[in-house]
Amino acid sequence: MGASFVGRPFFFQWQLDFQPERGVTQIAVLPETELEMPDNVLLHPPHLPLIAPSILAADFTKLGAEAADAERCGADMLHVDIMDGHFVPNLTMGPDIVMALAKACNLMQDVHLMVSNPDEHIEAFCKAGAKNLTFHIEVRHGDGALDLIQRIHDLGCTAGISLNPATPVSDLIPVMHAADMILVMSVVPGYTGQAFMPETLDKVRFLRHELAPHQRLQIDGGIGIRTAHAALEAGADVLVAGAAVFRNPERAQTIKLLRGDYPK
Ligand code: DX5
Ligand code: ZN
Repeated sequence: MGASFVGRPFFFQWQLDFQPERGVTQIAVLPETELEMPDNVLLHPPHLPLIAPSILAADFTKLGAEAADAERCGADMLHVDIMDGHFVPNLTMGPDIVMALAKACNLMQDVHLMVSNPDEHIEAFCKAGAKNLTFHIEVRHGDGALDLIQRIHDLGCTAGISLNPATPVSDLIPVMHAADMILVMSVVPGYTGQAFMPETLDKVRFLRHELAPHQRLQIDGGIGIRTAHAALEAGADVLVAGAAVFRNPERAQTIKLLRGDYPK
């Protein structure tokens, strides 16, 4: 009986076919369309909480290596911050970066759309390999938000809705039942490395109570070893961490500590 092995080093995927009587019968580089896509861990979490390092805080001179290192250090998914210079002042990345990251690591990509016109970009990000797309309630609410969630689902991705620190949690109530994840911003979005806003934990507590068990509750901004504990206690189960992971030489240990795996 023969066997097939598929590997994914940097930037391409290879396949090796082996038969005991004949040895290696074929070595092939697979086209991009045959790249194996990672599972969506939001739908089937292997454990909770999930840790999502934000690639925005990585060294941009070696993004692929940084994503692979996050995977090696135990990250559950990669958080990718898309900023349009309009909804937020900063400009960051687009679908081409998502496509490159998909070749560099096997982590699912959780794309956080800080853009004024998410409808116009969801297809490109899903095609590029994103598995979750989160948009902001400040730009699409009511039926507009429900339609957008349906379109994201039709593209094969899960859908998250985020809210800024200044946005009341009541704005989410008419639509949050349809989302796979709610993302509470614990900084004003725009930059990595900002200070955590503890007052946002009231929203986390409220939402934990209101959401169904299958809905994930993510928190993003200023999460580090100290603030993670408070976020988990309030009910968050997906922690985004930018500077705390990528600007730290002890990445694997930090990810463990963020998850609450304290040394005994
Ligand atoms: C902020 C972004 C965050 C940010 C997190 O606007 O949405 O995802 O990269 O970075 P830290 O964890 O450093 O605050
Ligand atoms: Zn983010």
